[in-house]
Amino acid sequence: MTTTSIDSLIAHDTSDMLGAVASLPAQLPDGLARANLLRTQVAERWAGDHGATPRTLVVCGMGGSGVGADLLPAAADVLAPVVAVKGYDLPGWVTDEDRVVCVSYSGATSETLSCFDQAVERSVVAAVITTGGELLARAEAAGVPAVVLPSGMQPRAAVGVIFGALAGVADALGVIEDVATVVEECVAGATLVVDEHLGTGPEHGGEAPPALDFARRLHDHAIVVSGASHTEAVAHRWKAQVNENGKVPCFASAYPELCHNELVGWEFAGATGARWALVELLPFAASEAIRARFDIVRSLIADSIDLDLRFEPRASTRAGATFEQLVWGDYVSIYLALLRGIDPTPVERIHALKAQLAGR
Ligand code: PA5
Repeated sequence: MTTTSIDSLIAHDTSDMLGAVASLPAQLPDGLARANLLRTQVAERWAGDHGATPRTLVVCGMGGSGVGADLLPAAADVLAPVVAVKGYDLPGWVTDEDRVVCVSYSGATSETLSCFDQAVERSVVAAVITTGGELLARAEAAGVPAVVLPSGMQPRAAVGVIFGALAGVADALGVIEDVATVVEECVAGATLVVDEHLGTGPEHGGEAPPALDFARRLHDHAIVVSGASHTEAVAHRWKAQVNENGKVPCFASAYPELCHNELVGWEFAGATGARWALVELLPFAASEAIRARFDIVRSLIADSIDLDLRFEPRASTRAGATFEQLVWGDYVSIYLALLRGIDPTPVERIHALKAQLAGR
């Protein structure tokens, strides 16, 4: 691809979503440092008289702000279950045995504010993670520690700083150990892919970025992303990024569960009229059983799909592989938008929905 044609593609990225992905390795330790500023206050929110760790860590957050809840147990060994709540209500079982963290980049998300109020009511909230808004105001009023994120990004583009902050809060509560190593490993994995994309832009002579090649092949396909174990969370991140950046439908699923239902659904995939593409996110140190399932399913559904792309992790740790596979999805989703000639950043429909809800 010529420098000029890459230039004209990248011109659609007016808010520099590509730059946001490139900043991911730096975001991770930044988020951790921000949480560490409040380490003592957060630790004090768990008295510890019920045990070394809370029974569960409940993380409330939607969309780009909620993804950290999925990624934390994917990347790190957790000493208590991390439960993601993506809705208006805390589950009834959440009591003083548990601790709740509310994450909202804008601080204005109604579901997360609702969970925050319920968590305050039950005296179980450990911290909030936000740039400001109503969530910060309510946290300050209630005396809840607030990890303050840098503003000016899209929530989904702040995944590194959100993850780092959540990991720091989880560490302060005793839910994960050796947080610095976890974050370093995530940085190493993200850097593997970012490095392949820095140096391939127009300022470096126009060699085609690898994710652009994948995006060209996936363009105008209905995409299904399959993960397993820790890459199940990453498959959901891919889906959300293809939706929000690429502005097309995308679906996520996970092995081995998909072998018990989705596999059959491929039989008449062609009847939908769509051209289907499969993205396979092999997990770190995949067991023979899981690898066999990826291989056998791929061959069984070969007639139903137009294309399949398999991503084998190269990182040397599970945390690294999580962020390596995630960054591939971030880049591919951005190039899907750029190939369509649109800016990946705006999410006008989300704002329209929120505006209409506010009017009710
Ligand atoms: O990417 C987005 O803009 C959305 O997924 C938001 O993250 C989601 O609507 C929740 O908003 P916030 O992250 O501000 O709580």
